[in-house]
Amino acid sequence: MSRKNDGDHSSNLQQRILSAVLGPCLLRSRSPEKMSAVETERKTACVTGGNGFIASALIKILLEKGYAVNTTVRNPDSREKNSHFKGLQALGPLKIFRADLQEEGSFDEAVAGCDYAFLVAAPVNLKAENPEKELVEAGVRGTLNVMRSCVKAGTVRRVVLTSSAAAVCIRPLQGDGHVLDESSWSDVDHLSSGAKMSPAQAYPISKVLSEKEASKLAEENGISLVTVCPAVTVGAAPAREAHSSVPAALSLFSGDEEMLNTLKHITMHSGSLTLVHVDDLCRAEVLLAEKPAAAGRYICCSLSTTILQLARSLAAKYPQYNVSIDAVGDHSENPRIRLSSEKLVGEGFEFTYKSIDDMYDESFMEYGKALGILPF
Ligand SMILES: NC(=O)c1ccc[n+]([C@@H]2O[C@H](COP(=O)([O-])OP(=O)(O)OC[C@H]3O[C@@H](n4cnc5c(N)ncnc54)[C@H](OP(=O)(O)O)[C@@H]3O)[C@@H](O)[C@H]2O)c1
Repeated sequence: MSRKNDGDHSSNLQQRILSAVLGPCLLRSRSPEKMSAVETERKTACVTGGNGFIASALIKILLEKGYAVNTTVRNPDSREKNSHFKGLQALGPLKIFRADLQEEGSFDEAVAGCDYAFLVAAPVNLKAENPEKELVEAGVRGTLNVMRSCVKAGTVRRVVLTSSAAAVCIRPLQGDGHVLDESSWSDVDHLSSGAKMSPAQAYPISKVLSEKEASKLAEENGISLVTVCPAVTVGAAPAREAHSSVPAALSLFSGDEEMLNTLKHITMHSGSLTLVHVDDLCRAEVLLAEKPAAAGRYICCSLSTTILQLARSLAAKYPQYNVSIDAVGDHSENPRIRLSSEKLVGEGFEFTYKSIDDMYDESFMEYGKALGILPF
């Protein structure tokens, strides 16, 4: 496995983005005294972007485990986006704060006094008109903004940053049969080599640079950071809107060509379709928050497959949807790469959803119907 990307090399693109993002930062170091002052029986976790697909599922798991949760949204007045909070508030203490990744200091209040911070919100708009600004710069700036709130709070014992498998596996690899672990980084130079950066290129770049810059900031400020790199995430969550992986994962049923193309694109550029169930991902994030010895990156992926295998399995499991194997096009039979979650499993984690059959269960189908993605 090549480690070409792992060193200090900095492309022009990286430097341009980092100077745009890092220019005005002033950091304050955390105060260890504050840490012991807020020890209470009920632990408090901040989850950013609580109206998102993954964050809403994480809030549910945390409340069910007895945590108090502070979450953030950009628009607390939107009834549609925030309607799931009522049901979640029935599970335990959940406070909602307004915060925007692009406003410096915006997360201070939500993070203040928290034991854990889960950085889930991120720009994920794959239709961005200016991907370098809207995805890369905004992603890195937003991540560092919340990290600085964690530094200021002085109470946060672990930050869990949700990165992506897209930060691991988008890199040129010869041949088949690669097993990628946490030492693998998507290749920023390769991704930014074309004349114009597309959103599909900007997204993995944003995730790589956010991870690397967050690690630096954590090290400089004594913050304990764990980064999770989830595969394409499927399953049901409390959020009443889902714009990212859910419509893409259900596109073989819905016939949504744009979403199916997203799935094909991921498979083609990463060498496989890697999947994880949202419940497994959120349980893994909580385990990594609570485990003092956890450190560094963790890939969270329970299945490496192909879009062709997915189409075949779904056609057999749900014949009423007439899944078209031909619609998948000329895709490989077997994955060229597999993602290893051995490090996560080594921490004592066990995946519940390991097969396509497990992941595409009735509750996922019902969620697709509730969101209006599936017609029946
Ligand atoms: N779903 C996947 O398959 C997958 C796989 C790997 C990694 N991830 C990562 O997981 C995280 C969550 O993804 P998701 O699938 O749950 O996506 P999602 O449902 O679209 O959630 C994204 C969240 O980020 C928030 N956000 C975006 N820009 C913001 C800003 N400027 N300020 C504050 N909040 C902002 C959104 O808020 P609004 O509702 O206000 O827009 C939304 O709550 C992301 O970091 C993503 O990169 C997802």
